Amino acid sequence: MNEERRPVAFDYDADPGRFRLCQQNTAAFGLAGDVHPAVAAIFATNGAAPVLDMGCGNGRLGTALDTAGVAWVGLDRSRALLADLRGPGLRGDAARLPFQGASFGGVAAVYMLYHLADPMAAIREAHRVLRPGGLFVAVAPSRATDPELAPFLPPAPLDTFDAELAPRMLAALFSNVTVDAWDAPMTRLPDPSAVEAYLRGRMHHPEVARSVARRVEIPISITKRGAVVWGRK
Ligand SMILES: C[S@@+](CC[C@H](N)C(=O)[O-])C[C@H]1O[C@@H](n2cnc3c(N)ncnc32)[C@H](O)[C@@H]1O
Repeated sequence: MNEERRPVAFDYDADPGRFRLCQQNTAAFGLAGDVHPAVAAIFATNGAAPVLDMGCGNGRLGTALDTAGVAWVGLDRSRALLADLRGPGLRGDAARLPFQGASFGGVAAVYMLYHLADPMAAIREAHRVLRPGGLFVAVAPSRATDPELAPFLPPAPLDTFDAELAPRMLAALFSNVTVDAWDAPMTRLPDPSAVEAYLRGRMHHPEVARSVARRVEIPISITKRGAVVWGRK
């Protein structure tokens, strides 16, 4: 297969408001992709601790891990998001983790591997820092998410990591790979300004967001697709 793939742009320090808008949209228009409490609960029930949260952002998984009583540390490339993190965190690159081998009972990569040109580099690092028997989780949208908006958007290359690629990539290093997929009309955009905010949050150019917001029939219900994929070292 020779598909063109591109890492999702890293805009967290240049435009921190864009990610905040994305998080506000999740709260305002539907809980699609709000996997953090469910992921934390699985680490807790498996006694997989401490957890390294690669690409922790401003700490949504950390908050859920605190609630579940699981010790964790976050690592992120963005100074702006780390400044908002409540909990232990350090700046770094998931592809070069500053930890010794076999240091963690769990490693998470929630909506972050698509930022890497080579996601396998971070998956290999996750494997290295996990103890034998430790759990790795990767979460990503499907390449077929948001089908109702796709006809209105310019064509774009696939991401370097998505829900379809995840099982194969994890299976290269981990055993017992399991997939928990979602596919449902989870988001409802009530008016053109909601459509525009939603597309801006998803990194579309402001002019594209405005133009699509004028053309879609509203209210519009959006089918969200993605997967939580687990593997055991
Ligand atoms: C979409 S956000 C997700 C944040 C968080 N995991 C969540 O679920 O809310 C992607 C995060 O990955 C971080 N990131 C991107 N590339 C990274 C890298 N190479 N190493 C560490 N963090 C990275 C970004 O700074 C950002 O915080």
